[in-house]
Amino acid sequence: MVIVLIGEAKVSYILLEWTEFLVRWLHVIAGIAWIGSSFYFIALDLSLINRKDIPKEAHGEAWQVHGGGFYQIVKYLVAPDKLPSQLTWFKWEAYATWISGFLLLILVYYISADLYMIEIEKIDLSNLEAISLSLMGIILGWVLYNYICKKTVNKNNIMLSIFILLVFTFFSWLYFQVFSHRGAYMQIGSMLGTIMVANVLMIIIPGQKKVVQSLLENKKPDPIHGTTAKQRSLHNNYLTLPVIFIMISNHYPTIYATDYSWIVISLIIIASALIRQFFNIKHSGKKPPYLLWAPVLMIILFSVYLSEIGKPNLTNNDKRANAIIEQIPKDLISASEEIIISKCSMCHAKEPLWDNMQHSPKLVNLENINDLIKNIEGVYSQSVMSYAMPPGNISVLENSERKILYDLYHFVDKL
Ligand code: HEC
Repeated sequence: MVIVLIGEAKVSYILLEWTEFLVRWLHVIAGIAWIGSSFYFIALDLSLINRKDIPKEAHGEAWQVHGGGFYQIVKYLVAPDKLPSQLTWFKWEAYATWISGFLLLILVYYISADLYMIEIEKIDLSNLEAISLSLMGIILGWVLYNYICKKTVNKNNIMLSIFILLVFTFFSWLYFQVFSHRGAYMQIGSMLGTIMVANVLMIIIPGQKKVVQSLLENKKPDPIHGTTAKQRSLHNNYLTLPVIFIMISNHYPTIYATDYSWIVISLIIIASALIRQFFNIKHSGKKPPYLLWAPVLMIILFSVYLSEIGKPNLTNNDKRANAIIEQIPKDLISASEEIIISKCSMCHAKEPLWDNMQHSPKLVNLENINDLIKNIEGVYSQSVMSYAMPPGNISVLENSERKILYDLYHFVDKL
């Protein structure tokens, strides 16, 4: 088992990968449960009908069919005569998503801040500084957002949304100046995700508790709880899609790591709002506004265009890679180069020889030692610590060859 260093303590690479994977597994499942139930309730709310035969204090009713049975759901805005002993609250889905997400942020980003957050050519931060800046942003994002919402709770929601969008566009730009592309993306994702969960924890659930309490005491609940909860649920509804977009984008460098990737975040927030709007109208039983897909498509095409014009301007004087290469023993270079040329470059080349392949997969080129040094982390996880590459070991990478890539990785790692 290979050993990696976290500070002073030695932790097994495989154990670390498993830990990260298990937390990620939990995070995705909790996220599905949370977003799933929130989508469900939005659609349910929109489909409620006020029929004559429902109890007179009820607000509306919906019939649904699922899993071989019918469900008759009745919504009350006031407490029913007798509150049932069992009342299901929906909150742990949100909390579990945040807790696992924060753990993942620590495991992936904070532990390897030098790899995933810091870009010394922007600002040469220490790991601790990067982590502090990230935590500050997460807290500040919520405080600022919460303040703006409280000040404007009964005012025009559209103006509020535009204002919040501008604030977050500024944050995206700011973190792009401070962090690496990938670090900045995850930072904005974490800030938005935190706002969503804090909305549940600090506003929606406490408000609901107070409402239930007043109803039980036969008092009229303060309508402010209802209005605030509605405003925050609405924001969560519209933030869901962009947050998921950011979270899965870290597998797609052309999305998060170009000059204009920070603008793409805001564009996706707008496109997502339109998509949610479409489904909200559709679920309320009205005629679906298909025309809304036109601006969505235009925004996405424009984002693609931004990725295209924001990609690096390629030049051929990579001084740092050359400096590393000069220190590697010549036989290790030639042995490694021979491996990638014979076992990887049929696919991982600017003009792949592989049938129907237009670009090198994931834009990972492996045609010479420079390419290999640049991608050494990926090669290590794909071909040394696992059998992921070559796919299906199609070009028969021998274990002895993996050992050579292993030696190269550790040589470069020590420099
Ligand atoms: C038959 C074609 C083929 C060969 C040969 C091949 N790869 Fe790949 N490689 C791919 C494809 C396809 C992907 C994209 C996989 C995906 O979408 O997750 C990929 C992705 C990668 C990635 C990026 C993974 C990521 O998700 O970031 C690395 C690194 C990589 N390959 C390394 C190698 C190495 C090293 C070799 C040779 C030892 C190799 N590949 C051989 C097809 C190939």
